[in-house]
Amino acid sequence: MANGVETSTAAALLSVDGLTAGYGKIRALHGVSLRVPQASIVCVLGANGAGKTTLMRALSGLLPVSGGQLLFDGQSIANVPAEALVRRGIAHVPQGRMVFAQLSVRDNLVLGGYTRPAAEVRGDIDRVLEYFPRLKERIASRAGTLSGGEQQMLAIARGLLAKPRLLMLDEPSMGVAPILKDAIFETLRAIRDREKLTLLIVEQDADIALDIADEGYVIETGRVVMQGPAAELVGNEDIRRAYLGG
Ligand SMILES: Nc1ncnc2c1ncn2[C@@H]1O[C@H](COP(=O)(O)OP(=O)(O)O)[C@@H](O)[C@H]1O
Ligand SMILES: [Mg+2]
Repeated sequence: MANGVETSTAAALLSVDGLTAGYGKIRALHGVSLRVPQASIVCVLGANGAGKTTLMRALSGLLPVSGGQLLFDGQSIANVPAEALVRRGIAHVPQGRMVFAQLSVRDNLVLGGYTRPAAEVRGDIDRVLEYFPRLKERIASRAGTLSGGEQQMLAIARGLLAKPRLLMLDEPSMGVAPILKDAIFETLRAIRDREKLTLLIVEQDADIALDIADEGYVIETGRVVMQGPAAELVGNEDIRRAYLGG
């Protein structure tokens, strides 16, 4: 590549090796390994129940990790409390968005910056809203009155206000109208390009995720069954059959 940096050799911001996690005695992740290079977009694809949300929650300190090595910027993050991980630069946009329906768009955004000085967050809101003009128009509306796609935008914008180095998104396409889906994924790509932010996206919608991703992984019942450059996975027959209806 012209700038001399290849994705495959770039330093991994997040590196996961043999991660196991679950619910009580039920193990949902059976040794998941993946690497997320700095300023890359990595997607993890998997059907319903594959373990995508479990992975996100284990990485963001919301679920205990029972084994494996998790390194963020070279330091272990296994079983570090969620708030400490936000301060260290990991933001998680949860499945189903989880915006505060009774609060305004602005107040949801303010809450996204709860680990940072308030004055700094206020200044950042306008900058983040540049990516989401629709939200700007609805800044004073209650979040519960937004469409599914607009709520997803709000959840992403809220995540950005934590000023993360790694933004993790759990099924950002879920419950979003097709036209807004494309807009959201294009915005994610623009955010990576401009802010050099690193993105880890888990999705059932393989098509839209692989379109913006550099690298992809496929998980099935808590195990990685396939991985590779996104462009290669798009053309993969097994993936087409399983996820793209090909
Ligand atoms: N709170 C929970 N208690 C027990 N089992 C759970 C819980 N949440 C998820 N699971 C199980 O863990 C597995 C992975 O689920 P999940 O990570 O939510 O999958 P995905 O996000 O890929 O749809 C599934 O078998 C699911 O039934
Ligand atoms: Mg899920």
